[in-house]
Amino acid sequence: MKISKILLSEEQIQAKVKEVGQQIAKDYAGKNPVLICMLKGAYPFFWDLSKNIDIDLSVDFARVSSYKNGTESGKLDLMLDVSADISGKDVILVEDVVDSGNTLSYFTEYLKGKKPASIKICAFLDKPERRVTDVKVDYVCFSDLKCGFVVGYGMDFAEKYRNIPYLAEMEED
Ligand code: IMP
Ligand code: MG
Repeated sequence: MKISKILLSEEQIQAKVKEVGQQIAKDYAGKNPVLICMLKGAYPFFWDLSKNIDIDLSVDFARVSSYKNGTESGKLDLMLDVSADISGKDVILVEDVVDSGNTLSYFTEYLKGKKPASIKICAFLDKPERRVTDVKVDYVCFSDLKCGFVVGYGMDFAEKYRNIPYLAEMEED
């Protein structure tokens, strides 16, 4: 696999993430949500988004591993659980990309056991045409790219390319 084209520039990403962050700030005015970063892929998005949510909030981190080594979904493992007590809290799950939907449907069901007041999902990228399990994405930056496998802005192919600041599509060699 190799990078074939750039889909979104750093500037396009930053402008859209700012817009979504400001929308969340409006919607959660007067509340103190807990933002949960879905590691590893959401790490750059999480920071860019949170700095544009200008209200009191707290952050936490979780990791559900699904993609073992490549582009197809595998078994789901909870590798890192949230450390905060989220009972009675408004939770926002921050994810890099919703693809089959398996990761987030599994994880939201799991989190419901901790009795939060609400759970919403904010994704940088949504690929609705790839959905296998129904999941409601409440906030999304980009949902109509109709792209294949992408890398950059936190997203990897076999752990490579997470650190490029733009979004690129991969193709077979
Ligand atoms: P899902 O469980 O199929 O929705 O997959 C979600 C996870 O798969 C995301 O958190 C990503 O880590 C990974 N993933 C899905 N599509 C891509 C992609 O195009 N590039 C990189 N990672 C992806
Ligand atoms: Mg991920």
